[in-house]
Amino acid sequence: MGVLYSQLFVTPRYPTESFADQIIIVTGSNVGLGLEAARHFCRCNAKMVVLAVRNVAAGEKAKQSIEESTGRTDVCEVWELDLASYASVKAFAQRASKLPRIDVLLENAGILTLNFSLAEGHERTITVNVISTFMLGMLLLPKLKATAKEIPSTKPHWTIVSSEVHAWTNLPEWKSSNTFEALDDPKNAKMQARYPTSKLLEVLVVREIASKLADSRVILNMLNPGLCHSELAREGSWRVWFLKLVLARTTEVGGRTLVAAATVDDESHGAYMTDGKVNNEALGAFVTSEDGEKAQKKVWTELKEILEKVQPGIASSF
Ligand SMILES: NC(=O)c1ccc[n+]([C@@H]2O[C@H](COP(=O)([O-])OP(=O)(O)OC[C@H]3O[C@@H](n4cnc5c(N)ncnc54)[C@H](OP(=O)(O)O)[C@@H]3O)[C@@H](O)[C@H]2O)c1
Repeated sequence: MGVLYSQLFVTPRYPTESFADQIIIVTGSNVGLGLEAARHFCRCNAKMVVLAVRNVAAGEKAKQSIEESTGRTDVCEVWELDLASYASVKAFAQRASKLPRIDVLLENAGILTLNFSLAEGHERTITVNVISTFMLGMLLLPKLKATAKEIPSTKPHWTIVSSEVHAWTNLPEWKSSNTFEALDDPKNAKMQARYPTSKLLEVLVVREIASKLADSRVILNMLNPGLCHSELAREGSWRVWFLKLVLARTTEVGGRTLVAAATVDDESHGAYMTDGKVNNEALGAFVTSEDGEKAQKKVWTELKEILEKVQPGIASSF
C-alpha cells in the first residue's frame, strides 16, 4: 500500500539547492534517471558534471540535451565507464582521482536482464550493479575523503541508487558456502529474482560499510527512486509496460530523488531514502532481520575478497 500511495500521491520536491563549485559524477547518465539527475545538477549551478557512460556517443547526445535545456555549456564532460569491465572501472577511477575535488559520486548505472551471461567471471547483473559499483566507490574513496578534509564547506556524498524491489527476495543464496559463487551458477540461476537480488546486495553492503566511514565526513547513502519511466525494463513484458503507464513517475521526477540523496545531511549516512526522504522503515523485512544481519556481514566479507583480488589493498581505503 505504501508503494501505491507513493506512486500515486507523492511527488518528490523539485531540487533548488545550489551545487556551485561542486564537481559531480553521475554514472549511467546518458539516459533515464541518471540523465535527469545530471540535468538537475547542471541547472543548479554545479561547476562540473561528469557523465560517466559506457557509450560515449550516447553520452555526447545527453550532454547536448542538457546544454540545450539548461543553457549552461562547459559544465558537462563525457567520460567512458563500462561497469562490465574492471579495467574500465580502474581507468575511470584513476582519471577521476586527478579531479581537484569530488563532491558527489552518484552511482546510478544498473541493468535488469533475464538472460544469464558472465562479465569478469561473475553473472553480469552482479558484476555491473554490485561488484563494479562498490569497486568504483572504494577506488574513489580516498578522493572523497581528501575533498572532505581539504574543503570544510563540503560533505562529499557517495550515493547508490537501489530500489524498493530489494524487498522482493530474501537472498536464499546467502546460505550457500559462497553467495557470489552460488549466483554465478547458470544451472541454478533464478534470473527473475536477479535484479532484486542485486538491489538487496547493494542495501546490505551499504549498511555494512557505512560505519567504517563514520569519522570521514563522507556521507554514504542509498535510495529508491520509485517506479519511473526509463529504459530499464527494455526486456519487460506488456505487464511491466501497463504498470508503468498507470503508476510510473516521469523520468524527471524520478531524477529528483537522486539529487535529494546528494543533498541530505548526516542523517542519511548508511540510510535508505525513498520519495526523496530518509526512511529506513521502508527497508525490506529481511534487511533488518537476524538472518539479514548475518547475510550482510557474509556478503561484505565475500565481496571484499573479490575486490581485493582485482585491486589488492582496495579495502584499506576505509
Ligand atoms: N526506472 C525505475 O523504475 C527504477 C526503479 C528503481 C530503481 N531504479 C534504478 O535506477 C538506476 C537507473 O536506472 P534507469 O531506470 O534510469 O534505467 P536506464 O534508463 O536503463 O539507465 C541505466 C543506465 O545505466 C547504464 N549502464 C548499464 N550498464 C552499464 C555498464 N556496464 N557500464 C556503465 N553504465 C551502464 C545505461 O547505459 P546504456 O544506455 O549504455 O545501456 C544507462 O545509462 C538503476 O540503478 C536502477 O536499478 C530504477
